[in-house]
Parts: sequence; structure tokens; C-alpha cells
Amino acid sequence: MKRLLDWLDHRIGYRKILDEALFEPIPGGARWRYVWGSTLVFTFMLQLITGIFLWMAYSPSRQTAWESVYYIQEHMVMGRVVRGMHHYAAQAMVVLMAIHLMQVIIDGAYKAPREVNFWLGLILMQIVLGLALSGYLLPWDQKGYYATQVSTKIVGATPLIGEQLQILVQGGKKYGHHTLTRFFAMHAGVFPGLLMLFLTLHLAVFRRHGITVRDPRHGADTTFWPDQVLRDAVACLGVLAVVLALAVFRGAELNAPADPSEPFSAARPEWYFLFLFRFLRFEIVEHFGLAFGAIYVPGLVLTIIFLMPLIARLKGGHTFNVAFMWLMALVTAGLTGLALYEDAHDPDYQAAVAQAHRDAIRIRELAEGPNRIPVSGAVTLLRNDPFTQGPKLFAKHCAACHRYNGHNGLGQPVTTIDPQTQRPVPAPATAADLGNFGTPEWFRSLLLDYSNHFAPLKNAEWYREAKKRAEAGEDVAFLDPDESEMAEWSRANRETLLKPENAEALRSLIAFLVSLSGRKDLPVDPQQVAAGREIALNGELPAGQMDACADCHDTIGEPFEIVEEGSGYPSLAEYGSQKWLRHFLSDPGHPMFYGEKNRMPAYGRKLTPHQLDMLVRWLTHDYLPSRLEASGDAGAADD
Ligand code: HEC
Ligand code: HEC
Repeated sequence: MKRLLDWLDHRIGYRKILDEALFEPIPGGARWRYVWGSTLVFTFMLQLITGIFLWMAYSPSRQTAWESVYYIQEHMVMGRVVRGMHHYAAQAMVVLMAIHLMQVIIDGAYKAPREVNFWLGLILMQIVLGLALSGYLLPWDQKGYYATQVSTKIVGATPLIGEQLQILVQGGKKYGHHTLTRFFAMHAGVFPGLLMLFLTLHLAVFRRHGITVRDPRHGADTTFWPDQVLRDAVACLGVLAVVLALAVFRGAELNAPADPSEPFSAARPEWYFLFLFRFLRFEIVEHFGLAFGAIYVPGLVLTIIFLMPLIARLKGGHTFNVAFMWLMALVTAGLTGLALYEDAHDPDYQAAVAQAHRDAIRIRELAEGPNRIPVSGAVTLLRNDPFTQGPKLFAKHCAACHRYNGHNGLGQPVTTIDPQTQRPVPAPATAADLGNFGTPEWFRSLLLDYSNHFAPLKNAEWYREAKKRAEAGEDVAFLDPDESEMAEWSRANRETLLKPENAEALRSLIAFLVSLSGRKDLPVDPQQVAAGREIALNGELPAGQMDACADCHDTIGEPFEIVEEGSGYPSLAEYGSQKWLRHFLSDPGHPMFYGEKNRMPAYGRKLTPHQLDMLVRWLTHDYLPSRLEASGDAGAADD
């Protein structure tokens, strides 16, 4: 063995290199406060290794970036952990860098003759921030997509060359696919290359001047090996343990795939950029423009830090520098805290985060569903998912009047501004709650308690007006839950239907009504349906007789057909089916439906055919089942 090593040493002289590397003297002895630089080099190595493994599966394009990260996260062996480590080590690097910088300034390690190395360090800091920023976009999920748009806008706000610079960074006039390829090239090529170059210089110059010792009499002089190496190794292992624990137990988040047509108000930069984000939102800063807040002010701060070695030559200069750094640290911490506090108390932001969370869970379900991820990319999965789109459309178009299990479809209460207090108060519904539309409960309540079932209509402005005019003797056609024919029917037959002898008949009637929609999620017993059909057609009950549904709703039980002349009663042919709903929503005032009595807007033109389809399929539960529904409430579910 010795001969082999001698041979090697003779050829490459490794012993001398090792000697120099390991036996670098440390006056005053090894100390914990010298470990920060080493931990930084260590995290960078960690990033190189995990980054290369990620690279092996990553595929930068608009249709494949999210999909490949999804693959890494969900299917690649150890992929989740590797991605998690890369994610958290990046954050560790930013934190360690801040500590390293503070330490260098407090210990005066930036002063002559170490100015150049200090400047090299500042350049390294910029590169690391560039790496962090460019990496945020690569998963191509909603959060990264929208948060990075802020960064490219800041680039565009650069004075004089802003526009050209933005085009260069973005890869064109518009933000999109080429932004991704450029960011990837910068993240995996340009920045790491620069980092290695400047790190080499930084370490070489560092070796030239050695460690800065504040108090040489702290202890006996030693060398780098083994005392300091041991401390550094322990610190690096500590960092590794934290990163690994976060990667395993928390994991890195992957939002829904980026969708330019789907605004995302939960977009925030990584937490360590929050202070800048918050700073930009001060009214006074906004007033002076993006360039002022995002370029001039940070530029000024960086210039001061850059000039610190020169400032230190002045009397009291070092004290100024240290005080300045502490001030910056306090301001940064304060702004970060403020941003977090405000977000935590902003119901809109919280709702957006909850929605983003739901979408992230849902996209996994769809990606693992029978259709997998289509060639057009995962983004179309959510766009074509009634469970995702239906509630949003409902909240936007229907929740002004209707409710869905009491909320707006997305789980939020519907509110209105109280004119007196100027505060949001719950808004009364002015149309039926459609949360159980077409289910047995819907029919039960409609048949046995019609007036109450449609009572929300009485909150509407049109109702009060029509009622007043009707009471004044005018002839107005409108739906009156208290006095319509159907209300009369319900009042007249309620007691008969509730007789114990009629319990089975009522169940059958309801089963028949449920069967009209043909919904797969509402299975019915064919025998009950047949019995219920008889009751609906002739009104005969075991105990008593009621006016048959078919007396008025003449097409009940028949196939849906568009007729020009209505009977004056809403058509119940295939009532509650997708076909019925599609036609009803397109034109509820059609004589087949509510005719003159109708007060609901027609959606035939307000919604695209695709939107109508999403809404109708959501209302009839025609979608891949979701565990988000487990709480029994498609809108409010959260895990
Ligand atoms: C301006 C208030 C208003 C809006 C907005 C509205 N509706 Fe209606 N809707 C009504 C009223 C009132 C009725 C009762 C029948 C009528 O007037 O035609 C009704 C009836 C219905 C019915 C029949 C069941 C029932 O309750 O009688 C369905 C289904 C329905 N609406 C779905 C929707 C959907 C889906 C949307 C959104 C695309 C929507 N509505 C938007 C007011 C509204
Ligand atoms: C005397 C005539 C009459 C009879 C009998 C009758 N209905 Fe109705 N029904 C109406 C009218 C009229 C409406 C429209 C709402 C209104 O004017 O109150 C209506 C509305 C409805 C609706 C709501 C439609 C919608 O758009 O949501 C359903 C469901 C319904 N009836 C079911 C039945 C069933 C089931 C029976 C038999 C068990 C029945 N009706 C018996 C007259 C009648």
C-alpha cells in the first residue's frame, strides 16, 4: 500500500496538496464560528448532486415540465426525497449565506486585505439568489408560474434597457415556454458554472489570507485538520439532518400545473423573498414605481454593503457597517413577519391557498385516474374536470341567487355589504339550494313542503314587487312558493302522503322521480321505480288518492323532447338529467319550463358549451370521484 501511495505521490505530488489543504494553521484554535463557509460549500455540493438526479428525469417544456416533476415526485424511486432535499437545501443555502455574511461583517473579515474576497462573496450571493429564483419556475406549477412573472416584470422595470432585458430573460415578448427553457439553462448551466468559478476564486483568495481571528488568545493554535474539520463535519451533518428531515416529513409542494387562463391569487415568492414582495406593496413604494422599489432601493443597499471595506477605513466605519447590517436584518425580519401576518389574516388569500391545495390534490387524483395524463399535458385534466370547474362556475354565475349546501359552491359564504356598517354580512339566497338537486331529499322536501323548499324566492326583489302588484289586483305571472298550484298541491296532499300506510308508496314515488335523471350516482330499485311510475301517472295511493303528477306535468316519465308549445307546467321529462339541465339552463323561460313565470337568467349564451357541460356534469356528479368529497361537501372539503 505504502509503495502504491509513494508511486502516486511521485507522479502527482498529492501529499503536498493534502498538507496545504489540511494543515492550514488556525491561530487561536478551532472554533464553531468558522463553520459557516464550509456548510455553504457542503449545501452547494448537495444541490449539485440532487440537481443532477433531478435533471435525469426533468423535461423542460410547457407540456412536460410539470408532468416530469410529477413523475419525479410520485413515481421515481426516492424522487420525492431527492426533490425535497433540493428544495430545502436551496433554502438552507440562502439562510446560511445570510449568516455567513453577518458573521464576516461582525468579525471584520471584510476589511483589508480581504476586500476582494468580500466582493467575490457578494457576487456569489447574487448567483445563489439567481439560482433560487430560476429554480422556482422549473416545476411549472401555478405558484412558480405566477410568482416568477413578478420577477420578470422587475427585470423589465430596469431603467433604459429594461424592455430588451426582459425579452432576453423571457425568451420573447411573452412569458411562456421559452421562459422555461431559458430559466432551465440558467439554473442548470450558467449559474452553477459561474458559482463554481467564483467559489474557486473565493476559496483560493481565502487561503491566501487565512481565517480572520478576532481574539487570537482564545486558545492554542491548531491546524485545520483535525479540530476544525471535525467541527465543520458536525455542522454539515447537522444541515444534512435538517434538510433530510424536511424532505422526508414535509416534502416539496407541487401545485396544479401552470395555467395562464386560470388566475392564481395565492402566488407568493419563496419566503426569503417575502420581505421584498411586501416592501413593494407599500403605497409610497408603489407610488414611485416598480423600478424604485425593486431596483433602486435594493441596489442602494447592495452598494453600501459593497463599499463596506472602504467605509471601514473611516473612523467609526466598522461600527457603522455592523449597525447597518443589524438594521437590515431587523427590517428584513420585520417585513417578512408583516407579510406573513397579513396573509394569515386575509380571508381571500386563505381561500386562494385552500383552493390551490384542493387543486393540487385533485390533479393527483386525475393523473392517477383511468385517463392518466394526456399528451396535451396535465393542465387539460383540471380544465376538463367538472369537479374542479363546476364549483368555480357556480360561484361566479349562480351563487348570486342559489346556494350549494348553504355556500357558494367553493365552500365560502355568500356575503353582501351592509349599507349601515359597511361590513360584509351573509346575503340571503333568492333561489333554491341546489346542493341536493335531483336527490331523494330534494324531491321529498319539494313534494311535502313545497312552500318551504322554494321559500328563498321570497327574498328576491322581483318577488316583492310582483307580490305587491298581484295584491293590487294586477295579473302578473310569477312563481309564488306560498300560493302556486304546486304549493297548493303540496299542502293538499302532504297529510295523505305522510300516512304510515303510504310510506312505501312515497318511497316508490321518490325513487321514480330520482330515476328520471338517469344519474349513475343515484342508484334506484327498478321495482320501486315501476310502482312509483303508476302513482305519478294515476295518483292512487294505498290509503287515499292525490292529484296525479301527470294531470299537470303531462310529459312526466316520457323521453325528453323539445316542444314549442308548453303545457303551462314545467316539463318533467327526464327531469334532472344532463339533457334536461342543459336545456333548462340555456333557456329557463322556454314554455317547456317556467315560461312567463321565469325569473332566472338564460345561460345559453352567457356560458360556452364547455362551461355549460362542466356545470351540468358537476351538478349531476358525473366526474371521477374525489377524496375531497369525503366530508360530504364537494365545496368545503379540505384535508
Ligand atoms: C338571478 C337569480 C338566478 C341566477 C343567477 C340563477 N338562477 Fe337558477 N333559478 C332562479 C329562480 C328564481 C329559479 C326558479 C325558477 C325560475 O324562475 O325559472 C331558478 C331555478 C333553477 C333550477 C330549477 C330548480 C329550481 O330550483 O326550481 C335550476 C336547476 C337552476 N335554477 C340552476 C341554476 C344554475 C346552474 C345557475 C347558474 C348557471 C342559476 N340557476 C342561476 C334564479 C337564478
Ligand atoms: C295541479 C298541477 C300540478 C300537479 C298535480 C303537480 N304539479 Fe308539479 N308543478 C306544478 C306547477 C305549476 C309547477 C311550477 C311551479 C309553480 O308554479 O309553483 C310545478 C313544479 C314542479 C317541480 C319543480 C320543477 C323545477 O323546475 O324544479 C317539480 C319537481 C314538480 N312540480 C313535481 C311534481 C310531482 C312529482 C308531482 C306529482 C307527485 C306534481 N309535480 C304534481 C303543477 C303541478
